[in-house]
Amino acid sequence: MTARTRFTDKTALVTGAGSGIGRTIALALAAEGAQVVVAGRRREPLEETVRLIEEAGGKALAVTADVTDAADVQALVAAAVDRFGSLDVAVNNAGVFRGGQPLADLPEADWHEQLGANVTGVFLALQAEVRQMRTQPSGGAIVNIASIFGVHARHPGAAAYSATKAAVSVLTRGAALDHIRDGVRINAVSPGAVETPMSLRPGETEAERTRRAADTLPLGRISGTDEIAAAVLYLASDDASSVVGTDLVVDSGATA
Ligand SMILES: NC(=O)c1ccc[n+]([C@@H]2O[C@H](COP(=O)([O-])OP(=O)(O)OC[C@H]3O[C@@H](n4cnc5c(N)ncnc54)[C@H](OP(=O)(O)O)[C@@H]3O)[C@@H](O)[C@H]2O)c1
Repeated sequence: MTARTRFTDKTALVTGAGSGIGRTIALALAAEGAQVVVAGRRREPLEETVRLIEEAGGKALAVTADVTDAADVQALVAAAVDRFGSLDVAVNNAGVFRGGQPLADLPEADWHEQLGANVTGVFLALQAEVRQMRTQPSGGAIVNIASIFGVHARHPGAAAYSATKAAVSVLTRGAALDHIRDGVRINAVSPGAVETPMSLRPGETEAERTRRAADTLPLGRISGTDEIAAAVLYLASDDASSVVGTDLVVDSGATA
C-alpha cells in the first residue's frame, strides 16, 4: 500500500504528546506528512517524541506549555506559526484522571486539577487555535479528546472526571457551531479504555486489565493508541470535510 499523505505540508499541534495517546497521534500525523508541534509540561518526554518523529524522517518541535495557563497556550500557538508558518490541525489531548473513590471522598484539589487540565485547558486551546486558524485562507481542523465517561457512559469512581469530559463533548459541539463559518472544523473523539496506564484500575496489572476486557467488552479487548489516532486523523483530514461537531466513540463496543 502506498503511504498516505493527507497532512503533507500542514502544521499540526498536539497537546499531551509526550506520552500515551498524544504521542501516537503526533507520530501518526508526522507519518502522513505533517510538521508537528508537540506540547506538554515536561520537556524530556516531548523531546523523545520529537526524536521518534525525526528518526522516522519527519519534522517536529517540542514546546513546553501548561494548558491551564492562557499565556502558555498563546505562546504555544505562536511558536507553531513562527516555526512552520501556519496552524492547520490541532489535537487537544492533554488531560488527567483523578478518581477511583466515591465522589464524597475525592480531594477537592483533584476536582480542580481535572477541571483545569480537562476543561479550562481545552477552552484556552480552542480560543488560541481558532484565533489563528480563522485568519488563514484554508482555515483549520481541531479534534478534542473527550471520553466515553463523559456523555456516553457512567462508571463508579469517576464522577468528577466524567463531568469534565462531558464538558469537552459539549464545548466541542458549541465551538463547532460558532466557528464552522470561520473555516474551522471542530470535532471530538471519545475513547473507551485505551492501552495506557490511565485505564488501569487502582492496583490492577496489565494482565488483569486484559482479562477484564476479554470478559466485559464486546470486542474482547481495549483499544490501541493507534486506533484512537486513526479516528483523530480521519476527523482532522479532508476525508471528514463535512463532519462538524461530532463526537466519535472508539470504545471496543463498550457503549454499543
Ligand atoms: N487511556 C484511556 O483509557 C483514556 C480513555 C478515554 C480518554 N482518555 C483521554 O485521552 C487523553 C490522553 O490520555 P493518555 O491515556 O494518553 O494519558 P497520559 O499518557 O497520562 O497523557 C496525558 C498527557 O497530558 C499531558 N498533560 C496533563 N496535564 C497537562 C497540562 N496541564 N498541560 C499540558 N499537558 C498536560 C501529560 O504530560 P505532562 O504531565 O508532561 O504535562 C501527558 O503527556 C486524556 O485527555 C485522557 O483523559 C484516555
